[in-house]
Amino acid sequence: MNVLIYDTEEQIGIAAGNYMCGQVLAKPNSVLGLATGSTPLKPYNHMIRLYEQGAVDFSKVTTFNLDEYCKLDVEDKNSYHSFMHENLFVQALLGDPAFLLFDEPTVGLDPEERIHFLDGNAADLEAECKRYEESIRAAGGIDIQLLGIGSNGHIAFNEPSDSFQRWTHVVSLKESTIQDNSRFFNTIEEVPTQALTMGIGSIMQAKRILIIALGEHKAKAIKQVISCNVTP
Ligand code: PGA
Repeated sequence: MNVLIYDTEEQIGIAAGNYMCGQVLAKPNSVLGLATGSTPLKPYNHMIRLYEQGAVDFSKVTTFNLDEYCKLDVEDKNSYHSFMHENLFVQALLGDPAFLLFDEPTVGLDPEERIHFLDGNAADLEAECKRYEESIRAAGGIDIQLLGIGSNGHIAFNEPSDSFQRWTHVVSLKESTIQDNSRFFNTIEEVPTQALTMGIGSIMQAKRILIIALGEHKAKAIKQVISCNVTP
């Protein structure tokens, strides 16, 4: 494990964006595991900047997102589908400003083939989790997984619990996470109470993992990670 400490979010964004793009330069058809939240915003900005400068080409990349809320319309601004399209995909992956998330022309590209999300509105959520695991395997596994970490130590929506949930699963969100995430919604009642998330086992199968923590409120969780005292 390498631990790098930076003074500013700007520096972290550049370092992390470079690292993700370095993976794509080394292997153009990389499978990227992507995250949402405020943590990856600056890394995504830097990836877009490099793309715009012609330094990296994402056209052969495949992506899998870590998690998605249940029972939230994908077109809702708080869905992770919307987040990714707004903050990375529209600019960087498809490289065509005409591309929009829903029912818009994609100029010969099939985003469904390369951009993967969990469907939190699937009729059978357990089957959806299985489908996702199978898709990751079929794509050859994740080359690099980008992660944030919650103030309570959660990774994706793997909330603190008594045991590790290995594979992609349905989760009931902890009060502290609902509280944390309520800043994006009008009221706390609007925050979904369930989500689908890749499990710790799915995440740990990534060939490389880049975990980013911003801010003092993450310090306690990070101290435990660095001291290898990793618990469910
Ligand atoms: P944040 O969330 O990036 O918005 O801090 C990270 C997380 O909860 O995993």
